[in-house]
Amino acid sequence: MDQRRTLTARVVTLVSALAAGIAAAASLAPPPLREMRWIDPGLPRAEVLRALTTEPAECLVVPVDVAHREKIAIGRAVFRSPLLLGGQAARAGISCASCHRAGRGNPHFVFPGVSGAPGTADVTSSLFSSKRGDGLFNPRPIPDLVTAPATVDRNPAKPDLRRFIHGQIVEEFDGLEPPAAVLDGIAAYVAAIGGRCGGDAARTATREAADAKAAVLAAQQLLAAADQPAAHMLMAAARSALGRLDERYVGVSGIDRRLAKRDAELRQTQLLAITDPAAASAALGRWTRRFDKDSEAMVAAQDRSLYSAAMLSAILPR
Ligand code: HEC
Repeated sequence: MDQRRTLTARVVTLVSALAAGIAAAASLAPPPLREMRWIDPGLPRAEVLRALTTEPAECLVVPVDVAHREKIAIGRAVFRSPLLLGGQAARAGISCASCHRAGRGNPHFVFPGVSGAPGTADVTSSLFSSKRGDGLFNPRPIPDLVTAPATVDRNPAKPDLRRFIHGQIVEEFDGLEPPAAVLDGIAAYVAAIGGRCGGDAARTATREAADAKAAVLAAQQLLAAADQPAAHMLMAAARSALGRLDERYVGVSGIDRRLAKRDAELRQTQLLAITDPAAASAALGRWTRRFDKDSEAMVAAQDRSLYSAAMLSAILPR
């Protein structure tokens, strides 16, 4: 009798331990979209849904001059790529655009150890920087790069903006020294956002796919200029855009396979570019033609992806 009771007690303990384990694993499971890791956990569900399906309008002023336009395209792509930033930020998947969404601000940004109130970040935090970490917790509001009064002079004739961004990448975020073309590109991009615009834009597969393709086209330009290190970074930026598409098409068969193939091709092309830039450039040309077909397939399947508010709503935790 006694023995049976102990056995029952043991079984109960085991079952509750298992249940606790499962619950813990579920709460540790990564969120369906990586960017959810830095959305204010106290944000109402409807607002989370809105943040994941829209973004502020990008107030980009596109110049007529082709060379200047190409520079901006480089900067725009890299601004969205976590690999530009080093250390913890890159590992977490944070890019310039995580804080400055579409070059604007982000009122819902919360990252443990870096943010105070939502929408703030301590950019001298030792979590992100081994060089600038000042040991003080002094988060500041993330400025909207369009509407907040600029404290850094963005006049392209002056070195201020370029110097500021260099410091951000190398010191604040522990990134590697960026190739000159990349640094020039980001400065050109930041200087070009600031037109009059407003409202929100829908986040769609079309836009994300266009971003991936633009990064590949920029990589091709850089290969033509024999700038392999910068081209490598732009291919990495394209791959991170593919990663964002992949998250949204999880379980949509056909699309996940296509994206995996395109990603593998880019990885091979990154290697090929080191020894044979001309062949790599030709490979990127073939890549864009295949990716155009993929993009059509993605648009056709968008309703089954997490770009659809209904699909997203079904998987968001209550
Ligand atoms: C973790 C969030 C975060 C990330 C990532 C980030 N920023 Fe910022 N950014 C800030 C904050 C906060 C400030 C305000 C700093 C201050 O007030 O001292 C700022 C300021 C700026 C400014 C100055 C605006 C002005 O004139 O006052 C520019 C330009 C800028 N960031 C561009 C970038 C670029 C380019 C990147 C990527 C290399 C980047 N930021 C990445 C949070 C971030």
